[in-house]
Amino acid sequence: MTNHIVIKKKITPFKKKIGVSGDKSISIRSVLLASQAIGKSKLYNLLESEDVFNALKTIKSLGIKYKKFSSHYEITGYGLNGYKLKKNLVIDAGNSGTLARLILGLLINVNKSVKIVGDKSLSKRDFSRVTEPLSLFGANINSSNRKLPVKIIGSEFLRPINYFEKLGSAQCKSAVMLAALKTHGLTKIKAKKSRDHTEMFFKHLNIPIKISKNKKFDFIEIKGISNFKSFDYIIPGDISSCAFFIVLTLLSKKSYLVIKNVNINKTRTGIITILNKMKANINFKNKKNYKGELIADIHVKSKSKLLSIKCPEKLNSSAIDEFLIIFIAAAKAKGISHFKNLSELNKKESPRLDIAIKILNKLGIKVKRNNYDIKIYGNPDLKLEGKYVIKNFMKDHRVLMMSCIASLTLGGEWKIYDTDSAKTSFPNFFKILKQLGAKIN
Ligand code: S3P
Repeated sequence: MTNHIVIKKKITPFKKKIGVSGDKSISIRSVLLASQAIGKSKLYNLLESEDVFNALKTIKSLGIKYKKFSSHYEITGYGLNGYKLKKNLVIDAGNSGTLARLILGLLINVNKSVKIVGDKSLSKRDFSRVTEPLSLFGANINSSNRKLPVKIIGSEFLRPINYFEKLGSAQCKSAVMLAALKTHGLTKIKAKKSRDHTEMFFKHLNIPIKISKNKKFDFIEIKGISNFKSFDYIIPGDISSCAFFIVLTLLSKKSYLVIKNVNINKTRTGIITILNKMKANINFKNKKNYKGELIADIHVKSKSKLLSIKCPEKLNSSAIDEFLIIFIAAAKAKGISHFKNLSELNKKESPRLDIAIKILNKLGIKVKRNNYDIKIYGNPDLKLEGKYVIKNFMKDHRVLMMSCIASLTLGGEWKIYDTDSAKTSFPNFFKILKQLGAKIN
């Protein structure tokens, strides 16, 4: 495919059953944890996207072998001290904040200098949020102006820490949790709510972890250990990838979609709660528990009249990667939708709040912004007729996918650039769109 597409027609009614690829957060965690386990781990349905390939390249540069089989990846780890690396190693995390931040946690005990770099977008993001807590363990970490490149020289003499994670960042929480494994003693974390896949993994791997919760915070205690055993894991579908097809179905006429085997961990389903509050009718069927993670099939049908929402702030974290597409649903809903305190949205692969507002303005949708709060003036009769060009969005995969769904549901003639960026998280995105009947040139 060339690096731009043209979409001139709304999608026609569809009734389909699809599957989406493996969850990105769980895929990266499973690769990194397998690289530190003792023995061979088998990972099924691993997401084959750029971010995950960069995780595989990273563990390879740390002396860990992996093999791809037709049904799974096999990774052989040598334990928590098992990385073997060349002097002055440079790790390129590409576009992946999760990889760059989590690997820093695992390098905390590696007594050699490693430099972490990333692409243009990742190089603009804040790393002090993770280098500050990790330095407290006793490693030597330097960054240039709080950003990449970050240089780390780990230490064999680590102390456990007490850490208050205030941002609701699962990446920071997870980096600290991984580092905590390598200390002698008890690390205590008080964390603003965020996705808890690392906690679920630790439990499944029998790593000593205690968790208690109140409404706002999770309290996590982790004891250092010497090693943990390899594991097999089937990665469930990614709800963040489903999000685009859910909104596509809602905003299309006479359509019905079933998405099989999706991770519906409560820390990830904010989008479903939000859309159902807007009077969508999205259901989970065939619910099951898999190693602590909830999995289900998602059923969704068209909804001609969505209502606006005053989005409760407590849903921000569990919908954090989905706001772009939620804004498109809000643009087609009856009434004014309010979203509050979305500062973290501007800390992603691109400043997503700024970019979303620019795109909505371009489409003639009224938006009012006050710092990090926005109001979107929805209109159920919204029909676009103009020509729209979407480019210069820092190759943010989610901006790309949101634009495609907007074009297929709102009308108009669209030219959308940097289509390659879908490969960051969802290489099958266009293939599935075409299966659903989208006409894309
Ligand atoms: C992720 C955590 C979130 C999310 C990102 C993936 C993870 O980022 O936006 O896409 O896998 O832990 P923050 O930790 O920066 O909130």
